[in-house]
Amino acid sequence: MDDKMWAGRFTKELDKNVNDFNSSISFDKRLYAEDITGSIAHADMLGKQGIIPSKDAEQIILILGDIKNDIESGELKFDGTAEDIHMFIEAELTARVGYIGKRLHTARSRNDQVALDMRLYLMNQINSIGEILAELLLVLCDIAEKHTGTVMPGYTHLQRAQPVTMAHHLCAYAQMFLRDMDRLSDTSRRTNISPIGSCALAGTSYPIDRELEASNLGFDGITENSIDGVSDRDFVIELGSALSILMMHLSRFSEEIILWCSWEFRFADLDDAYATGSSIMPQKKNPDIPELIRGKTGRVYGDLIALLTMMKGLPLAYNKDMQEDKEAIFDAIDTVILCLRTFKPMIETMKINTENCRAAAAAGFINATDCADYLTKKGIPFRMAYKITGQIVEYCIKNNKTLDTLTLDEYQKFDPEFEEDIFEAINLDNCIKARDVYGGPTPERVQAQIGNIRINIAKLCIALKIQ
Ligand code: ARG
Repeated sequence: MDDKMWAGRFTKELDKNVNDFNSSISFDKRLYAEDITGSIAHADMLGKQGIIPSKDAEQIILILGDIKNDIESGELKFDGTAEDIHMFIEAELTARVGYIGKRLHTARSRNDQVALDMRLYLMNQINSIGEILAELLLVLCDIAEKHTGTVMPGYTHLQRAQPVTMAHHLCAYAQMFLRDMDRLSDTSRRTNISPIGSCALAGTSYPIDRELEASNLGFDGITENSIDGVSDRDFVIELGSALSILMMHLSRFSEEIILWCSWEFRFADLDDAYATGSSIMPQKKNPDIPELIRGKTGRVYGDLIALLTMMKGLPLAYNKDMQEDKEAIFDAIDTVILCLRTFKPMIETMKINTENCRAAAAAGFINATDCADYLTKKGIPFRMAYKITGQIVEYCIKNNKTLDTLTLDEYQKFDPEFEEDIFEAINLDNCIKARDVYGGPTPERVQAQIGNIRINIAKLCIALKIQ
């Protein structure tokens, strides 16, 4: 009957089904390293403060190290009937060193222990995700650098709108991923605060040193309020939110790649190693990877909603509902890592069909704004120039022409201000060159943007402590 750590006030054993229902070891076992690291720092602090004999602290630390090695070598298996990873490690410690091990949980509760483990774990994961994201960004920069002269239509409402370049378009995604990295760095900053010493909720009467324990664990600071320290999971939700936004960006990009690979667009071809065939239609090459990424985005949103909903009605301080944070955020992390790891080589090997991009740019009247601007620069108010150009476009559509194939005579029928230089003004390369504004599509502006992106990647890697 003293099988459970909390068995003292109970007269019956826990029902077997309730034990399974209550247990989190099947998923929180992935916190084993953080749990042991936290316990080592705790034992060390307890010893240094004279709360437990320093010889006992030393022994506890030694055995905890052995337990970690044994888990990693596969010698020690997780006990599926244990209540959670914290109980499992503590029970194993006690089994190995007897009553000395029972001193470890002095001035600590699983409530601050689990909050600590989660913060440590999430900081590591944020770092890993940041690293893959940085690699993806560098790949995007490399591809963009090759396509500063690849003219393509920019779209609004999925209708050809104005000329841009593939590099300009790709850099738009790079900017989004940079902000995703920045959000991860923000999240990490707020996660990097130690709750240990909050204990169950009200602190402790032992003379603990919270700063020492936190700094030994590499934290930047300690929580200010012991109730808050064990109650909130906003850092988990923040990560879930940053990951959802990241997936939203990845999903939009995936959607575009799916479109680009269609015969209607043919702007890009996926490498054969990153596409699949159909079981019945021999001609098919399907973009399963970007489709799956688009699909998995919903799953990460679901994880975020689960987290938000789990927390919204909880009175302070700890409630067992909060155990549900783990599967949700672990799933979000695993999904994002999987998607990023697959997406990066997929775009790295993807072929961009520069000719098709240019052909599409030549066909959709995307230089109509430039034609209107031409007249405006001759003194005609923009609204009138806009209307005249609209009439020219209508004429072209009816007569199966483009702005480039009209004759000067035809132009002059619409307005006498048109001169020979209209053809220069609506030339696609010139349309791009003319938009020489900060953030615009000229090859020089985009090259400068790529340079800035590279600088920002380096800065964010420093902020996220990525080597
Ligand atoms: N497995 C629990 C969790 O993930 C650990 C904390 C348990 N605390 C408690 N007072 N029952 O939240």
